[in-house]
Amino acid sequence: MRTKFKFWAVEYLKNNPSKQFLLDNFDEEKFINFIKEKETYLEIGPGKGRFITNLALKYPNYNFIVIELNSTISGMCLKSIDELKLNNVKLICGNFLKLVPYLNEVKLSGLFLNFSDPWPKKRHEKRRLTSDIFLREYSKILKEGALIYLKSDNLDFFNYSVEQFKKFKYQIISLTNDYQMLDEFDEETEFENKFKSQNVKINRMILKNTKETIEWGEKYELWNISQ
Ligand SMILES: C[S@@+](CC[C@H](N)C(=O)[O-])C[C@H]1O[C@@H](n2cnc3c(N)ncnc32)[C@H](O)[C@@H]1O
Repeated sequence: MRTKFKFWAVEYLKNNPSKQFLLDNFDEEKFINFIKEKETYLEIGPGKGRFITNLALKYPNYNFIVIELNSTISGMCLKSIDELKLNNVKLICGNFLKLVPYLNEVKLSGLFLNFSDPWPKKRHEKRRLTSDIFLREYSKILKEGALIYLKSDNLDFFNYSVEQFKKFKYQIISLTNDYQMLDEFDEETEFENKFKSQNVKINRMILKNTKETIEWGEKYELWNISQ
């Protein structure tokens, strides 16, 4: 997501530490309690937060965590969460991979990957949110039976992701190249809204983290990942 640096958003993020989990001063106890309190879902790369805020409003009995690399986007997302006075969404600004060590004791109920950057160049493959390292970590941080919901406009990225999920033994629950009506447990994202208005087809799949996925992830050697 190419977003210009916005001073107000970065300041907003800086001035509201109590509304986030800070990776460089992590309150592990509070984080674990938040996840234990309710079924908790994670979105990586939430954009300005349209998807997660609407889902959180609809499902007050669930908790949601969003993690976003970019500080301007994080600030904008945090503001949207605050404006709606949502207590069931927490933001983390940083790289998802830095959050993984805090998810040993508690596991998540599901994961959303909405319109992730496709990183089409081979040399950037490791940055794709469906590259080996990420798929291995997802199997560790999710409960057995938890679902991953992925939406993308980019067919090459989508097809690559299908093969990746198969490689890591995730069970494909559903897959479509023309997702039109939103499921009950779904909301439109900012990107989705833009693509739909341009008549771009939306690809979507749902994957299950099975016992086999978890066992495969445990066996999968790190040297494979660094290849
Ligand atoms: C293309 S945007 C998608 C925005 C939104 N989900 C939507 O559909 O409108 C992808 C976002 O993912 C974030 N991102 C990419 N890799 C990430 C990572 N490893 N950890 C956290 N955020 C990441 C990027 O900074 C970017 O803002």
